[in-house]
Order: sequence, then structure tokens, then C-alpha cells
Amino acid sequence: MPWWTAPWAGLPCTTEKQIDMARNKSGKLAETKEMANILEAPEHLRGQWAAHFANPAPLVLELACGHGYYTLALARRNPLGNYMGIDIKGARLWKGGKIALAENLHNVRFMRCRIEMINKYFAPSEVDEIWITFPDPQPKKDNNRLTHPFFLEKYRQMLKPGGVVHLKTDNTPLFEFTLGAIAGMGIKPGAMTRNLYKSKLYEDEMLQVSTHYEEMFVADGAQIKYLNFRL
Ligand SMILES: C[S@@+](CC[C@H](N)C(=O)[O-])C[C@H]1O[C@@H](n2cnc3c(N)ncnc32)[C@H](O)[C@@H]1O
Repeated sequence: MPWWTAPWAGLPCTTEKQIDMARNKSGKLAETKEMANILEAPEHLRGQWAAHFANPAPLVLELACGHGYYTLALARRNPLGNYMGIDIKGARLWKGGKIALAENLHNVRFMRCRIEMINKYFAPSEVDEIWITFPDPQPKKDNNRLTHPFFLEKYRQMLKPGGVVHLKTDNTPLFEFTLGAIAGMGIKPGAMTRNLYKSKLYEDEMLQVSTHYEEMFVADGAQIKYLNFRL
């Protein structure tokens, strides 16, 4: 199975159904508390992530990960790297956590927290790369957007100097807002496209990974935008 196919692709149909139907929302949330790969408030691991994972490898985060499809795909592709999906919704993390367990992905963790609090869990320069996948566009509250300078400063603190941030979104106002936010911080975009699927950038297998929301937005006819930049 290519590493970038849908997370379910390698699992037997019954396993997929079992994972998806096994619990209602509150049951999933309760079960996350007992799953070793889903962490909640792990402040004691701040500065200790290299020791926590089996390999002291680069640490890549997916923010607003939902089910964590990028986290899973990246971990499958790079068994020696370390990957963590972060979201506030435990029932969504549950699904990613279950898939990681079913596939024996020992290099995957999920963390339930508000991204506003992220510097409590990562020491300066502890993170190598960040993916932000289809964050809520927050049309009314721009300071809640995960690419507002308020958040970018938090990411800068925990990233290694020059660490890359990737953004994938269907939302044009959020994409243009992000370009303005980084310009305001004196940062130039690296690679970018307003129509990923028609872009040469789409030859990069990493950008062919599709998330749960991406699939829904594309089915509705949305064009996917992509941007990366260094903090
Ligand atoms: C539109 S969904 C995208 C999920 C996933 N990345 C995907 O593409 O399928 C946005 C996600 O961001 C999470 N989220 C929004 N604001 C957040 C915050 N401040 N802290 C943590 N998670 C947040 C939501 O819980 C939700 O799962």
C-alpha cells in the first residue's frame, strides 16, 4: 500500500467498521484516557520528547489534526521520525489513536490540548516541523485563526530556528490572511499555490496526503491551497 493512501486502506473492512462504530462520542472520549498513544496535559514531557519516543528523531507536529491523517501518513512513510497530532477534540483523536495502534505505528502520539497552550508542552527548539491542516477559518475572530501572529509566535518559540510550517486549506480568506500575517512578520513564503491539485507542487507525495476535511471540501468543489514558510 502506498504510504499516502487513506489511513483505512491497509486495514480489513471489518477492522475499519469496528474502529469507527465501536463507541459513541462520550465512549471514545473516555477511552482516550486509557490509550497510551493519546496524551493529555503531559507537561512533564516538555523538553523530554526525544527521550519519550523510541528513536530520538526529529519531531513533526500536525496542528488541528482532527483524525490525524497527516500524522499517520507521515509516520508510515518515515518509521524513524516522530509524529504528533494535536487537537482539542478527543473523539477525533481517538480515531487516529486507534488506527496507529492497529497499524503498530510506535512513532505516533496524539495530544489533546488547546493550541493556545502549546508552549506548556514543548521547550524552545524542540520541534522540527509543523503542519497545519484545514484549520477552522474563524471568519469573525481573526485572532483565533491558527495562523494569526499570536499563534505564529508560539510556533516560533518551540520550532528549531528556520523550522518549516506547512499550511493546507480550502479557505481563501484564511490563506490570504496567512500571507499577510507572515509578511507582517518579515517572513517570505516558500512554496505556495492557490490550486494545489493543478500545481507542480502536487508531484510531492507529501502533498498528496488527503485529510478527512480535505476530502469533504474537494467533493464540494473547493480548490486546495498550500503554503510553506520558515519561522
Ligand atoms: C476543520 S477541522 C480539520 C481537521 C483535520 N485537520 C482535517 O483536515 O480533517 C479543524 C480542527 O481544528 C481543531 N481546533 C480548532 N481550534 C483549535 C484550538 N484552538 N486548539 C486545538 N484544536 C483546535 C478542531 O477541534 C477541529 O478538529
